Amino acid sequence: MITEPAPAKINLALHVRRRRLDGYHDLETLFAFARDGDVVRVVPANRDRFTIDGPFAAGLSADADNLVTRALNAFRAAFGFADRCAITLTKNLPVASGIGGGSADAAATLRALARRHGIAPDDPRLVAVAAGLGADVPACLAGSTAMGTGRGDALTDLPGLAGTPLLLVNPGVAVSTAAVFAGWDGIDRGPLPEGDLLARARAGRNDLETPARALAPVVGDVRALLDAAPGAILSRMSGSGATCFALFANESSRDAAAGDAAARGWWTLPTTLS
Ligand code: C5P
Repeated sequence: MITEPAPAKINLALHVRRRRLDGYHDLETLFAFARDGDVVRVVPANRDRFTIDGPFAAGLSADADNLVTRALNAFRAAFGFADRCAITLTKNLPVASGIGGGSADAAATLRALARRHGIAPDDPRLVAVAAGLGADVPACLAGSTAMGTGRGDALTDLPGLAGTPLLLVNPGVAVSTAAVFAGWDGIDRGPLPEGDLLARARAGRNDLETPARALAPVVGDVRALLDAAPGAILSRMSGSGATCFALFANESSRDAAAGDAAARGWWTLPTTLS
């Protein structure tokens, strides 16, 4: 059995620069990853099987559309392997929530299949398969702190903030990434600032927060709670929302904020940056 973690992705900053002719947007974003997330398990089998378990399994169907199945098919098409396997996805993260989710699951599937077949995780063919599955999948495949440009898939490694206490909060509203991007007002508010990672994140923005709030106003309530939380050093919405996060000076202030968010009925994941 090969077990691959599919950690939650966060965008420490996400600047939308312009609409492109291919329907995507050019971004400048800072990717970071949590210690926790979904889990993908792959075992050899005599026929293909795909099952989903875990707290958010009910939000997904294990059909050909799932990014895990699409990753398996794309991997086979690229590398020509025909062996069968049983894949289990343990869905611990809320779906359609701005923290990678399906992208992280697809990336973990590719890493598991690559390990099984002795392919390096940074093999350019594997990276190309990842990019074909979605704009965030190459970042999730690498799984390390990076700046993303272009669609978010042109990556430059950055020194991270491993061990920093991190809290993810989701208010239980699924928002469509495409709908949030479509609500962006088209105004370029400028590039990522210079400096170290935390300085850039603190001086940066998430340009998708305004359109996400228009679709899910509760995002503003989550941000208000995290912004006011004692010990919080940065709070933002992640990706296209609705999950928001904060970095904390210590674990006890993170856990206190998690308790306050859970008391509002929101999903919380107290974790650390990896
Ligand atoms: O690539 P992925 O399928 O994850 O993207 C989902 C949708 O998000 C795209 O169809 C597009 O509408 C939007 N998107 C975008 N610009 C990006 C990334 C995603 O407009 N850089």
